[in-house]
Amino acid sequence: MTGWISTVSIFRDTLFSGKVALITGGATGIGRGIAEALARHGADLALLSRKADNLASTAAEIEATTGRRCLALPADVRNPEAVDSAVARTITELGRLDLLVNNAAGNFPCASEDLSPNGFGAVIDIDAKGTWHASRSVFRGWMKEHGGQILNISATLHYGGTPGQLHVAAAKAAVDAMTRTLAVEWGPLGVRVNAIAPGPIGDTEGARRLFPGPLADRLRALIPTRRLGSIDDIVNLALFVLSEAASNLNGTILVSDGGLCLAGRFPLEPESRPGV
Ligand code: COA
Repeated sequence: MTGWISTVSIFRDTLFSGKVALITGGATGIGRGIAEALARHGADLALLSRKADNLASTAAEIEATTGRRCLALPADVRNPEAVDSAVARTITELGRLDLLVNNAAGNFPCASEDLSPNGFGAVIDIDAKGTWHASRSVFRGWMKEHGGQILNISATLHYGGTPGQLHVAAAKAAVDAMTRTLAVEWGPLGVRVNAIAPGPIGDTEGARRLFPGPLADRLRALIPTRRLGSIDDIVNLALFVLSEAASNLNGTILVSDGGLCLAGRFPLEPESRPGV
């Protein structure tokens, strides 16, 4: 559960009424936060995740707390046929598909020389190919005819060289490239494609993997705002980008990192990092 539940939204509660959103990786973390917030602002949801247990409980909780519909669609974004089926089911059961949030991602720290081809491929397949599979499917299935919006969750770790993140940097660079290319190709058909690039977000699985324990404190000291980001920071930005208030944004990658990537090195020294 995110802090969203206990805070008062600055957005009107009908902001996404009548809309349907599909969120990949929507069972946990940032994806769950965005899903829950969209439902609290009127959208019906389809959540896609390969972890069926988490997915069912998250969908049930969102339905109970928001009163909106929330489909649980177990699928792996690496499998284009499974993604196509999930998209088709969303449109059949919820009647439309206005918003896609490509949030599913995989990560582990690993020195490049130790990274196996399969490990590199797993992250490329989830982050980069998964983003393409879902984007392609919603465009062909709905947005080409009806317009819509795609929001990709990217990262900042490929802006410089981040030790132990070769696979993720390559994958997120591909996500950024797709964001820009699809914005230009699909913009004329009423499809806006944007991305959010979170810096270190404290309350996520990624943070627990990448900067456990004292590393989080050392990282915080490097951030100009002296705080790690939160899921709610990304949730609020996502609501703005997906709303009509951002209707002139297309192909934009919005960095939310407290100014870290402007300020110096991220992440910490390779020798202090697990697996690197
Ligand atoms: N260090 C080095 N290699 C690793 C690794 C690690 N910590 N974790 C996985 N790999 C490698 C595996 O060894 C395997 O390669 P191999 O066949 O050459 O041995 C390859 O990655 C695939 O691993 P596997 O566990 O079979 O893949 P998966 O599809 O089940 O897992 C991952 C996907 C790899 C992304 C996994 O880290 C994961 O499930 N993460 C959970 C989600 C997550 O990362 N959330 C945070 C998002 S920011």
